[in-house]
Amino acid sequence: MRVERPNGRDSAIANGRSTAPAEVFGSRILALADRLAQHSDTADGLSCTFFTPAHRAVAADLKRWMGEAGLAVEVDAIGNVIGRLRSSKSGAKTVVLGSHYDTVVNAGKYDGRLGILTALVVIEQLKTLKCQLPFNLNLIAFSEEEGVRFSIPYIGSRAVTGRFDPDLLQRTDAMGHTFAEIVRVAGFDPGELAAFERPRDNLQAYLEVHIEQGPVLLNRDVPLGVVTAISGGVRQTVTITGTRNHAGSTPMDMRHDALAAAAEVILAVERRCRGVPGLVGTVGKVEIPNSAINVVAGTCTLSLDIRAPDDRTRDAAVSDIHHEIGCVAARRGVAALIKELMRMAAVPCSPQLRARLAGAIARAGLPIVELPSGAGHDAVMFDGLTEVGMLFVRCGNGGISHSPLETVTAEDADIAARVLFDVLTNWN
Ligand code: HGY
Ligand code: MN
Ligand code: MN
Repeated sequence: MRVERPNGRDSAIANGRSTAPAEVFGSRILALADRLAQHSDTADGLSCTFFTPAHRAVAADLKRWMGEAGLAVEVDAIGNVIGRLRSSKSGAKTVVLGSHYDTVVNAGKYDGRLGILTALVVIEQLKTLKCQLPFNLNLIAFSEEEGVRFSIPYIGSRAVTGRFDPDLLQRTDAMGHTFAEIVRVAGFDPGELAAFERPRDNLQAYLEVHIEQGPVLLNRDVPLGVVTAISGGVRQTVTITGTRNHAGSTPMDMRHDALAAAAEVILAVERRCRGVPGLVGTVGKVEIPNSAINVVAGTCTLSLDIRAPDDRTRDAAVSDIHHEIGCVAARRGVAALIKELMRMAAVPCSPQLRARLAGAIARAGLPIVELPSGAGHDAVMFDGLTEVGMLFVRCGNGGISHSPLETVTAEDADIAARVLFDVLTNWN
């Protein structure tokens, strides 16, 4: 079904015959990303974590830009910025476009934000061309996906999809502030969060544009990729307790060194996950309370992040790693306590949405590359509620992400916008 357009023009942006000069959408997307990146928790580098002043300033910019694009905008009690474009068709279903605006610490400018801004630019173009879509279109900028402040990811999309766990309200951040406290300080009512329910809209699909955060598209020399599945992840902490002691007077064979035990665990994680396609294991954080150069560490807490495109591969790795932790603990006379923070199943993307994205990519004259996502995305929260699809955009600099070295070109952002526009205006 083709979408009605004024004076019968084709979807100009989609077929590359845009009335605008080439890359105008891409350069706008990057310029807006630059403006959002000016809001940071830190004097140097970009960090924008949940409900900090910088985070609130980004939400204000997004709310303004969505309003200027003609969307009816609200900011919900967890900081999601939600823009709505109603269809003139009665009883229309809703397509949700989204991604997150929070970042990791010392982040790149495009993780999450590229998806929000690409959708925003496409909606601006839909309004300019007065396109009438057969579905409502919601753009959601999720407030918290990375899980930096409370170690639980996808908080914004959990709320929107009715999956918010009220226990989270009592969880504390590194400064000892509870989740409920910081929601209240930001001017919202934590009591509203528990009331979040499954979306009242009749969902047609959830579509997310995201920077690949890896080297595949770069190595294949293509600007876009269709995501086949989003890896499922397990996040845990391992607290190792040995005996804090004097570095000078404690003989080597009488130590119960928590940090040395942790070092063995870190290498065991790497060894177990290396060489298995798609399986990745990371110890990203090591915390040693009251550490000192002349003290044998008594306690050490590691983070574990284990992922794979299928749950069986991942869970086998987790169980082997737990076994190895037990062996290290027994050998070294230390205790190990494992706490699970999160377990997310791998999410397959909808074949129908993969076909829609592939069709638009083909119409743009580009090769079709399909790939799994090693990174997690808000899309996983919509699994089971509606069809889920993701479009990846080439990541420069060797595919580096979660780093200020993260890059994307205006040309690639531009073609992502044109392909997304094509998918929306050729929804048959
Ligand atoms: O960690 C991730 O996979 C994502 O960037 N939140
Ligand atoms: Mn992301
Ligand atoms: Mn990320």
